[in-house]
Formats: sequence, structure tokens, C-alpha cells
Amino acid sequence: MSRIEGKIALVTGANRGIGRAFVEELLAAGIDKVYATARNPETLKDLVALGQGRVVPFALDVTNPKNIKDAAELDTNISVLINNAGIASFEGLIDAKNIDRAREEMETNYFGVLNMTRSFAPVLGANGGGTIVNIASIAAHVNFPILGSYSASKAAVHSLVQGVRAELASQGTLVVGVYPGPVDTSMSEKLPMDKASPKDVVRAILKGVEAGEEEIYPDPASLELHLGLLSDPNAVQKQVAEMLPE
Ligand SMILES: NC(=O)c1ccc[n+]([C@@H]2O[C@H](COP(=O)([O-])OP(=O)(O)OC[C@H]3O[C@@H](n4cnc5c(N)ncnc54)[C@H](OP(=O)(O)O)[C@@H]3O)[C@@H](O)[C@H]2O)c1
Repeated sequence: MSRIEGKIALVTGANRGIGRAFVEELLAAGIDKVYATARNPETLKDLVALGQGRVVPFALDVTNPKNIKDAAELDTNISVLINNAGIASFEGLIDAKNIDRAREEMETNYFGVLNMTRSFAPVLGANGGGTIVNIASIAAHVNFPILGSYSASKAAVHSLVQGVRAELASQGTLVVGVYPGPVDTSMSEKLPMDKASPKDVVRAILKGVEAGEEEIYPDPASLELHLGLLSDPNAVQKQVAEMLPE
């Protein structure tokens, strides 16, 4: 049975970038309803129009516990959670003026995902287990110094995914870690390299979800780095170490 068609999903950071592509591709894949959430729901108007009744906007800042509690009480039939919202500061660990942005990255990218997952686990459990898709990054597996503190926050997400997967196995939840390379969104505009399109990346992710995959490398760059890390992790680390903060 499909994990998407006929189901009800909630997407964080749905107003732009990869999150927006998720809403569009979930609709194309036959989702019954998708709660498109954003810090400012005004930014979701065209997605709501596109959904013709299947896209429901909701205000959700993943660093706000009250927003998260309200989101988890929205609909007892939600069975697909897409933890997509994230921020990247493009600062090094030493190069940064202070650690304020590093803390913000942890609050959004790690504690946001942790709080969302803890709040939605019982909802998904009551619906036969469901699926949690966590958008980490290939930077979860090797630190990119140009994004040093971001990489650390995504490594924390990878560890979270492993722990949550173990804890929710008994309720039948598929807990997916996604490790993209550069994707063409405003987050990556400073990266001077080829980037995958958000649409292609999301299609690859949904294909992996339907196949029940727990780890997804959804674009050519992430797959190449993944294979490199399996065969020669030190060589990959040396290669990305050349990407220093400006
Ligand atoms: N682009 C890449 O190259 C790339 C590669 C690997 C992984 N990723 C990951 O993919 C995910 C999506 O990134 P993207 O490329 O689509 O970036 P993006 O275009 O910058 O979009 C980020 C989204 O996250 C939302 N967001 C940020 N902080 C939030 C918060 N506290 N609460 C709720 N929403 C929040 C933003 O909302 P606002 O509009 O309100 O700011 C926006 O919708 C992130 O987790 C990112 O780390 C991206």
C-alpha cells in the first residue's frame, strides 16, 4: 500500500524551496490532504490555491513549542510528517564572530526536529505507524568548513534519526533520513557549483519513501559523496576541507 496516496501529510517550511516542492509533489502523488506550514502563512496563498481544497495552511515556527503542540492537535489522521524547515549561516566554527548563529542552527535544525518528532510520534503511532521524513544534508556525514556549524547541526539530526528509528520501530513508523547535496534554493545561492532542482530531489525522496528506504541520497552529488565516504572517508574529508569560509 502506498505511504503517500490517500494519506494526510504535514510539511514544515512549506512556503519556499524544498518544502514548497514537497507540497507540489505530494499533490501530484495523490496525497489526500497536506498541511502546508510556515512561519508566515500569508506566504502559502498560491500553494493553497494550487491545492484546490487539498492544501491547508497553518502557522508553525519549529522553534515555538506552542505552535508545535497546536500542530500536533490539528488532525488525528496525519500519517506523514516532513521535517524540512532549516537554516544555514555559512559561517565557520572558528571564523564566526560569536556562536549566536550556531545556537540558532541547533534550535531550528536539531531541537525543532526533535520537538516536532516527539509531538507527532503518538499521532503517527495511532495511524498504524506512518512515515517521518527528515531533511538532513550530506553535510551530516562530513563537515563542510564553509558551513561548519550547520554541518554540526545536521550531524546531530542524523544521530537523532537513528535514535528515533530505534525507539519508534515497535509502532511501525518508517523514519527516513535524507542527505541531499546542493539544491537550487535560496539557502544555497552562495554556493558556486551545480545544484539539483528541488522538484527532482523531492521526486527522488518520495520514490525512496514508497520503497521503504531509511536513508536517501536524492541527487548525483550526494550519491557520489556517500559512495566516496564509504570507500575512502579521509579523502572526502580532505576534499571538502578546501571549502573554507570567505
Ligand atoms: N538547498 C540546499 O542546498 C540543501 C542541501 C541539503 C539540505 N538542505 C535542507 O533542506 C531543507 C530545506 O532547505 P531549502 O534549501 O528549501 O532552504 P530555503 O529555501 O532557505 O527554505 C528554508 C525553509 O525553512 C523555513 N524555516 C526556517 N526556519 C524556520 C523555523 N524556525 N520554523 C519554520 N520554518 C522555518 C523557511 O521559512 P521562512 O520563509 O519563514 O524563512 C523556509 O520555508 C533544510 O532543512 C536544509 O537544511 C538544503
